[in-house]
Amino acid sequence: MKVSIIGASGYTGGELLRLLVQHPEVEIKYIFSRKNEGKYVHEIHPFLKNILNIKFASFNNIESAFNSDIIFSCVPHGVSMNIIPSLIESGVKIIDLSADFRLKSVEEYKAWYNIDHKNPELLNEFIYGIPEINKEKISSASLVSNPGCIAIASILALYPFAKRRKISDLIFIDAKVGSSGSGRSIKLSSIFSERFGSIRAYKAAMHRHTPEIEEQLRMYSGVNLNVSLSAHSVNNVRGILVTSYVNYYDDVSNIWSYFREDYGSEKFVRIIRNPRGIYKLPDPKFLIGSNFVDIGFELDNRNKKTIIISALDNLVKGAAGNAIQCMNLMFGLKETEGLLFPPIYPV
Ligand SMILES: NC(=O)c1ccc[n+]([C@@H]2O[C@H](COP(=O)([O-])OP(=O)(O)OC[C@H]3O[C@@H](n4cnc5c(N)ncnc54)[C@H](OP(=O)(O)O)[C@@H]3O)[C@@H](O)[C@H]2O)c1
Repeated sequence: MKVSIIGASGYTGGELLRLLVQHPEVEIKYIFSRKNEGKYVHEIHPFLKNILNIKFASFNNIESAFNSDIIFSCVPHGVSMNIIPSLIESGVKIIDLSADFRLKSVEEYKAWYNIDHKNPELLNEFIYGIPEINKEKISSASLVSNPGCIAIASILALYPFAKRRKISDLIFIDAKVGSSGSGRSIKLSSIFSERFGSIRAYKAAMHRHTPEIEEQLRMYSGVNLNVSLSAHSVNNVRGILVTSYVNYYDDVSNIWSYFREDYGSEKFVRIIRNPRGIYKLPDPKFLIGSNFVDIGFELDNRNKKTIIISALDNLVKGAAGNAIQCMNLMFGLKETEGLLFPPIYPV
């Protein structure tokens, strides 16, 4: 399969390249950048030296990728919506990693992103890409919107409860996010001396992944539930830990059975709940570099609540790995093709 990437100089574009170079069915055709046209890929992604020997093509020449089988768009929200209509016309399959086609409601998009959506008619054409939840729709899709990294960790943790209508009101979600989650562009808040050693509540309320979590959980529960999400940056480069607090209380064995039923045959979901050792509940440290999402839970017996913990690598299951899992389904390949590599440990 011929694969091209728009926004290939960034972190998610680089991660797609890292994973796609060892995918047995993939030939990397074109990689686009505004600022790095003509440079070798290893000049921008040094880890690819002696692995991939192609040059960045001009962002102004993306028509050259129309003869690809699939294009991944890895540019910021607000940019993707300008590029994608011409790609769709060419008939190529598309996976968009930005937020531009994740929400179904154009009003919600405007409310959370403060941008008028230029192609509202396309919102319903995109399938929200979580293979563990909507495999069939992804398999027959040409257009897939890859979820936000905090969103996919939250939705996978809460879906078994939503589907069974065990959650119905306000859900509190607390997310800790490594620095690569905010991309590779330079901002004062992300330079080493400001970021290192900090644990910063960068979005204590109104994080932009809130509406996609609500939209998906409402759809699967049929209930008008709400989410209050707080996001914190922590002193890691990769990794997200999400803690979700729900008003639901049950036997441990029942909750186990929900996870087993929904994810028992899902290769990339690991249920982690060990009574002993240091790895009692999910911790991104034990999955960095892999496509796993680890999910565990604890009961608050005194307050009659359930606390669900989920962890993933924001660049793999939170972005590039999940997108490749969707690509495999869209092309009738084995869902796990090219993705069964173990985490890096220790990191
Ligand atoms: N980082 C994560 O963990 C993560 C996870 C899930 C989803 N996402 C989403 O994935 C997308 C890419 O994220 P990222 O972390 O890879 O960002 P990034 O590291 O900042 O890279 C962004 C890429 O887009 C290009 N770009 C930036 N502004 C552009 C513009 N105005 N026009 C055309 N190209 C532009 C940049 O390339 P040039 O400057 O070289 O043109 C670069 O290749 C974003 O929408 C983000 O929200 C990120």
